[in-house]
Amino acid sequence: MDTVLSGIRPTGFLHLGNYFGALKNFIKMQDENRCFFFIADYHSLTTHPTPDNLSINIKNVLIDYLAAGLDPNKCDIYVQSDLPEVCELSLLLSMNVHVGELQRVASFKEKVRRQPNNVNAGLLTYPVLMASDILIHRADKVPVGKDQEQHLELTRDFAQRFNNLYGINYFKLPVAYNFGDNLIKIPGLDGSTKMSKSDNETSCIYLSDSPEVIRKKVMKAVSDSGPVTPETPKSQAVENLFSLMQAVSTPETVQFFEDEYHQCRIRYGDMKKQLATDIIQFAAPIYEKVLSLREQNDYLREVVAQGATHARENARKTIKDVREIIGIRPL
Ligand code: ADP
Ligand code: TRP
Repeated sequence: MDTVLSGIRPTGFLHLGNYFGALKNFIKMQDENRCFFFIADYHSLTTHPTPDNLSINIKNVLIDYLAAGLDPNKCDIYVQSDLPEVCELSLLLSMNVHVGELQRVASFKEKVRRQPNNVNAGLLTYPVLMASDILIHRADKVPVGKDQEQHLELTRDFAQRFNNLYGINYFKLPVAYNFGDNLIKIPGLDGSTKMSKSDNETSCIYLSDSPEVIRKKVMKAVSDSGPVTPETPKSQAVENLFSLMQAVSTPETVQFFEDEYHQCRIRYGDMKKQLATDIIQFAAPIYEKVLSLREQNDYLREVVAQGATHARENARKTIKDVREIIGIRPL
């Protein structure tokens, strides 16, 4: 049986990109694997959330994920900071990580460019903490979107380096996982290639958006003035509408609008109406559950308490082994 792990930073509500890029795959795996899902609150501290926002966001993320289909009877759901073992593993791994390789990580360089006044050490060591999240459970598969591929490569590097240094085949080499061959990237409504709350909130459709809000957002999505000939290539914005449609609509619906496009008679207003209807149909049951879970504080507390107990059992075993391997042994 494989061990599967995924995590998310509690920085806001769950959007369609998070769902189709990462969560959907994880949900599919709950029945047949040992699954851990955690809320990466330590990782979210790199952007200095206010204490109130942090705790509210942890609750909101938990609610969204349960509503979307994570089942606490099938997987362990916990909050990262309830698992202090991960900090120890991060410290131990960091002794064998080069500062230069961390400085070359794409997400780090991007953060340096975007927030030059807050280049904290936590941003630099982010991939080491992430590798520890994964290696602490000796996970085989990590369902994440395409943007996390490089972090997974580093995780494998760190694991292999540990194994080489101590001449032992202890850590498995985990892979970024998606059921299709390619890792998925859901585009934004604003013409950007990635739906992301970090870039542009208005480009996102949240699973906890009401149907009215979803309709409004989709109808405002960027498009173009339409194809002139059947061969006119799609603009990025229109490509995005088709990609979103592929995620939520039936193949027949997608084909219908493809044909309309290639016959140069597509009406983007109609396409957006259909897209909004299909997103709402997909998201409405999740939205209902979100509303009900918001009132169930005791249940939410129970879920993460049980998750933390199970995750710690597993993590303690790894730390015990790693200490022994490194030579941190009882006198
Ligand atoms: P955001 O970019 O909105 O801040 P996160 O970085 O918190 O989202 O991403 C959480 C998870 O969702 C990661 O596994 C990431 O790969 C996945 N993800 C985020 N946005 C997308 C997207 N547009 N398409 C596919 N996967 C995504
Ligand atoms: N870096 C991931 C993101 O931004 C969140 C994350 C932290 C994670 N640790 C992880 C994802 C371990 C998978 C496994 O989305």
